[in-house]
Amino acid sequence: MIIRKSQREIEKIAGAGALVAETIAHVGSLIAPGVTTAELDDAAGRFIREHRGLPTSLGYKGYPAAICISPNDVVVHGIPGDYEVGEGDLVTIDVGVTLDGYIADSAYTFGVGEIDGEAQRLLDVGQDALETGIEQARIGNHVEDISHAVQTVVEEAGFSVVRSLVGHGVGRHYHEDPHIPNFGQRGRGPRLSEGMTIAIEPMITAGGADIVVADDGWTITSADGSLAAHFEHTVAITGDGPRILTPRVGVAARGPVLR
Ligand code: MF3
Ligand code: CO
Repeated sequence: MIIRKSQREIEKIAGAGALVAETIAHVGSLIAPGVTTAELDDAAGRFIREHRGLPTSLGYKGYPAAICISPNDVVVHGIPGDYEVGEGDLVTIDVGVTLDGYIADSAYTFGVGEIDGEAQRLLDVGQDALETGIEQARIGNHVEDISHAVQTVVEEAGFSVVRSLVGHGVGRHYHEDPHIPNFGQRGRGPRLSEGMTIAIEPMITAGGADIVVADDGWTITSADGSLAAHFEHTVAITGDGPRILTPRVGVAARGPVLR
């Protein structure tokens, strides 16, 4: 069942979304060679609580950290730990925040210092895919209009979308209906209508689409070890078109490469 939200509820989700965006920027400002992902997670958890939010991922289906941090070939759900960020890494920061009972969800892949040309292209294509998908998040369109738009951008660039992971409705719960796949056919899937709030999140790799889940039950890597990127926004379907509820701020508004 798809839960459509009132204007009041959308403003609540936007409040959570602003804190999500600030958290991504705060963590981004701390990313540098030598910092561990556990240190970044700690900073994220403290920042969210200092702003009266709760880190939605913590305890979700038993997830053990405040946010997900996924370096290099990790596509999603990387568990923060003793991994030290290195020059040239790609590091995805995926943040869910609950504020005043409402939830927003966003992810951003940062490049650390000098990254190679193919890594740069992966980031550019991932951002372009998200923006192009969001353009389709309009009343009367279908879910797979978003999916098809994302897939086209990614595959025309010679990259792959991960098919076994999807975006989702979000707002009262972390994961609501409908699923938002990153591949599909125009005109298919549920029709979009006013008040839907959805997380659109292309998860892409520079190689193949297959993924592997690690023994920890969470960490998802590309099966072929290729680099991955993940860009996500929470978006409301409104009479004025798509409204991004997690707009980028700070270092994340300047572009994904940290120099
Ligand atoms: N934020 C993730 C998403 O984009 C969900 C993380 S689930 C968790 O949907 F359990 F790892 F937190
Ligand atoms: Co999500």
